Amino acid sequence: MPAIVLIGAQWGDEGKGKATDLLGSRVDYVVKFNGGNNAGHTVVIGSEKYALHLLPSGILTDGVVPVIANGVVVDIEVLFDELEALTARGVDVSNLLVSANAHIITQYHRTVDRVTERFLGKRQIGTTGRGIGPAYADKINRVGIRIQDIFDENILRQKVEGALEQKNHLLVKVYNRRAIGVEEIVSDLLSYAERLRPMVADTGLVLNKALEAGKTVLFEGGQATMLDVDHGTYPFVTSSNATSGGAATGSGVAPNRIERVIAVVKAYTTRVGAGPFPTELFDDSGEYLRSKGFEFGTTTGRPRRTGWYDAPVARYSARVNGVTDFVLTKLDVLTGLTTIPVCVAYEVDGVRVEEVPVSQSDFHHAVPVYEEFPGWSEDITGARTFEDLPKNARDYVLALEALSGSRISAIGVGPGREAIVVRHDLLG
Ligand code: GDP
Ligand code: IMO
Ligand code: MG
Repeated sequence: MPAIVLIGAQWGDEGKGKATDLLGSRVDYVVKFNGGNNAGHTVVIGSEKYALHLLPSGILTDGVVPVIANGVVVDIEVLFDELEALTARGVDVSNLLVSANAHIITQYHRTVDRVTERFLGKRQIGTTGRGIGPAYADKINRVGIRIQDIFDENILRQKVEGALEQKNHLLVKVYNRRAIGVEEIVSDLLSYAERLRPMVADTGLVLNKALEAGKTVLFEGGQATMLDVDHGTYPFVTSSNATSGGAATGSGVAPNRIERVIAVVKAYTTRVGAGPFPTELFDDSGEYLRSKGFEFGTTTGRPRRTGWYDAPVARYSARVNGVTDFVLTKLDVLTGLTTIPVCVAYEVDGVRVEEVPVSQSDFHHAVPVYEEFPGWSEDITGARTFEDLPKNARDYVLALEALSGSRISAIGVGPGREAIVVRHDLLG
């Protein structure tokens, strides 16, 4: 298999980490192409639980080459902290490659992220506070600092000066904060240079050569379709392209190399942070999903907002990403419910709408139209084939498949690595 993309179909935390880990042993490279340490992927292997933020989940598989590509924003301190924590637990991280073109998150990005959120007041996005938005803003504004810059002290100093000129005015005059000194940033970044040097590579070239040689490359998206800066619920989004197209621009591998697009989708919906969420529940059912699904952010620990499955969102994802396969996760969390509502369309100002409305205000006002499906009470965590699932669970999956615009090739039935039902080979 050539290049495969794995992305989130909803608002994140669908279980992408687990899905990547599932494929890990059959791929040669795992590439993170967007976002930074705003991501939080939990992977459960036996009794061990790993929480990854900046590193791709594939790093947990022996022999895989993990790659942080150009589309990522890298907080170097976090990078080394994560590498050290994994090394201490016996994970081999020596293969990691970091793109020379990836942008760096510095202290001033984190500061600007937090002060802007505070000043937004009620209009807050609820960011992770990791400096993601400000780092991408600098990249687009052409005042970003790239990994390669830390190997040339003069260039680095000039760039940091350029980046801080406007920001210090803003911090001091608007936000009433202290100015950030050029030298403190420069010396902090330079202190990582020698440790970082052996990992830095022209990752676009490495990946293209690997594909030429017939290797399998898995692109692992951070965040998700509805958090994509172009295709998500703007402005309540992250600042990168989390959709499959981002894998090409974020890595330097051309779109026509990509043969498979796997979207991970939860059997219900969750969202962290602010923004529209038509199927959100504010009653006991919402609390049930949160506690049974353990829906608390891996990165910030915030309780996740919860709601029923939204088929128009899944269909939208299928379209935007060119999804070939869905991995449906957390089906086990629904066990015990008498009936399970699924949003099949919306009503906007009294009119039935089948697709995600392009107008943000319409999406804000969209009222879900539900169809109810009968639940099941049998424990499904031991199911390993589709036939092992109770009939009502199979019918629920088949109904979602018919509504969501692509086949459901695998079904998560528990947090562990082995708790999965595979219906179609994801790589074959
Ligand atoms: P990611 O950001 O998409 O990688 O997802 P997160 O790791 O933030 O959140 C998904 C959570 O669901 C993690 O705690 C996983 O261990 C857990 N998980 C993944 N798949 C399943 C599943 O099929 N069933 C259950 N019960 N938990 C799952
Ligand atoms: P994974 O990869 C869920 C959300 C934040 C906020 C918005 C912008 O684990 O699925 P940012 O810090 O990126 O500027 O915040 O995006 N967000 C996520 N929500 N899962 C994630 O990553 C997220 N990464 C960012 O909560 O609403
Ligand atoms: Mg997550």
